[in-house]
Order: sequence, then structure tokens, then C-alpha cells
Amino acid sequence: MEKPFRMIVWNKIPSHLYNIHHTMITRNTITWKEMTLLRTDADVLLQNEFKQCKAKKKVNLTIDIYQDDTGTVATLASIQKAEKLIHAMNVNKEYAPILGDPKFIASSVKLALGEDNEYFKNGMAVSLQTLGGSGALRVGFTLIKKFYNGKKIVFIPNPSWKFHERIIRSTGLEVSTYKYYDPMAKDVDFNSMIDDIKKMPDNSIILCNACGHDPTGMDPNKKQWAEISTLIKAKNILAVLDMPVQGLASGDPERDAYAVRKFVADGNKIMFTLSFSRSMCLYGERPGCLCILVNSKDEAAKLSSQLKMIVRSLYSNPPVNGSRIVARN
Ligand SMILES: Cc1ncc(COP(=O)(O)O)c(C=O)c1O
Repeated sequence: MEKPFRMIVWNKIPSHLYNIHHTMITRNTITWKEMTLLRTDADVLLQNEFKQCKAKKKVNLTIDIYQDDTGTVATLASIQKAEKLIHAMNVNKEYAPILGDPKFIASSVKLALGEDNEYFKNGMAVSLQTLGGSGALRVGFTLIKKFYNGKKIVFIPNPSWKFHERIIRSTGLEVSTYKYYDPMAKDVDFNSMIDDIKKMPDNSIILCNACGHDPTGMDPNKKQWAEISTLIKAKNILAVLDMPVQGLASGDPERDAYAVRKFVADGNKIMFTLSFSRSMCLYGERPGCLCILVNSKDEAAKLSSQLKMIVRSLYSNPPVNGSRIVARN
């Protein structure tokens, strides 16, 4: 028979001891009152209002997550299947390696670069599992801030996902913008974009949405990507391609990977980020990936060791469940 737990109680401390202790406490002067109260973002306020709204036929346009008709995030049938398989395998909950689950990383990088990519085959696509696409950006830009040997200014599209600027600035890097969208034509303002890239300092950094640009939904076409890639190479600019919706922009993951693969084929040493939050409806599981292409195995080893140090001091290691699900899909 199991022993009952011993209940530990503190109410037997003699009151004279308690009083002595009590009178010895003096307060220090630490205070948080000088900090500014930040206003809640307008979209979060709208989401809260949406939840409270009693209208029967309400539609939520405040956040880009996939929900069913009842307003809940449905678990895809493929995910349910993978979860059952994982459960049957009786896996343990040991810490993941610092850089994450190798099976997850290999399948993610192959999905982005293609099965036979030389960088991946030759150990020159340094990759790690991250806390979603946001975590991939945070780790990537932390690495850039610490070690990039070019001009440490990051150009992001105007407009851009609002957290791009916040994440990049949080690493201490400078942010500027390049023209991206023509609201009258409701299309990419390609000529202005090219003019702005031409004005960027050589060796600086550009962030591009690889597909399904957030928030406009408009991407350069293949010919335009080719021109961008050539220009970026000529100016020796580091391209960070953010790809959180591979497969959802066109419906075809291969087609959505065009920009990433074109930049690589043209000889650009890019960094790219992936997320399965939306493409697999795994928002809360946070499966993401960061990949950096390098010139040699020696560089790869150095980069991996520094990435381990960054991850160890930020969050130690990534979660195990989401990556297991993705790797089994
Ligand atoms: C452009 C862009 N990048 C990155 C992310 C981050 O994705 P995650 O939710 O996996 O952190 C998002 C999410 O909305 C996004 O829109």
C-alpha cells in the first residue's frame, strides 16, 4: 500500500520566533514605478472585443490563424495521426539537444531547399530547431548582431509584419525600410524596390518574405525574384528570407520555396527561417527552424558552436512535442 504524503505545516512556529524575525525585516528601495505603461496593441484589443461580442454571425479578421466554423483551431487529421503514432511509441520527455531534433531539422531544411541540395548534403547548411518562426528570427538576428562582418543595418519591406522591426531592434541592430508595395496598383512596387536595394550599402542586410508577404499577400514574380537575387549578390548583401507560410501562399510548398532556392542557386549565402505554426495548424507547439548557408565545414562547426551558446543562454533547448509531430508528417 502507498504511504500517505506527510503534510508539512508551518503554523507551529513559536510566536516569539516569528515576531523576532518579523521585526528584523527592513524594506529596500527597489521600485518599478518609473517604467512606462505600454498600450495594448490595437489588434489585441480588437481580438478581446471580438471574444466578448455576442453577435451570432461574427467573423474574426483580426488575426491570421486558421479556425473552423466554431472559431476554434482545428487539429488536422494528419496531425492527429502523427500524435497517435508518437503516443504509441511511448517516447520520453527528455530535454531535446540544444539545437533541436535532428530528424525535424533535416525534414524542414529539405522541404525548403529541396531533397538534393548540395549545402545540406555537405554539412554546410547550419540549421537548428527554434521556438517558431519568431524564435528563428530572434536567434538569427542575435547571431548577426554578434558576428556579421558586414554593415549591421537591416532593411525590411515597407510595410512589413509588425514584429519584424521589434524582433530585430531587440537584438540591438539598426532597422531601415525599402519600398515594397503600391497600394494604388495593389501589387509589389518592383521598380521602387529595386531602386531602394540599389541604394542600400554594400554588405548590409535585407529581410524578405520568401512567399505570402505579410501583410500585403503580394510577392515578386519569378523574373523579379531573379533580378533581386542578382542585385543582392552584386552588392554582397546578406539576405534573410522569412518563410512562415511555405505551402500556403500558392498551395504548393515547392513553388513557395522558389525565392529561397533561386537565391541559393545564384550563389547567395542566405539565412532563412521556417515555421509550421500555420502550415500545420500547430500554433501552440512552436515548431520553427533557422538555417544559415556557409562556405565550409570549418565555418559550419564554428557557427554551430556559437548558435549553441546563444540558444543555451536564451532558452536552453527547444520543446520536443511539436518537432516530433512535424517530423512524422
Ligand atoms: C511574416 C511572419 N514571420 C514570422 C512569423 C512567426 O511565426 P511563429 O508564429 O511561428 O512565431 C509570422 C507569424 O505570424 C509572420 O507573419
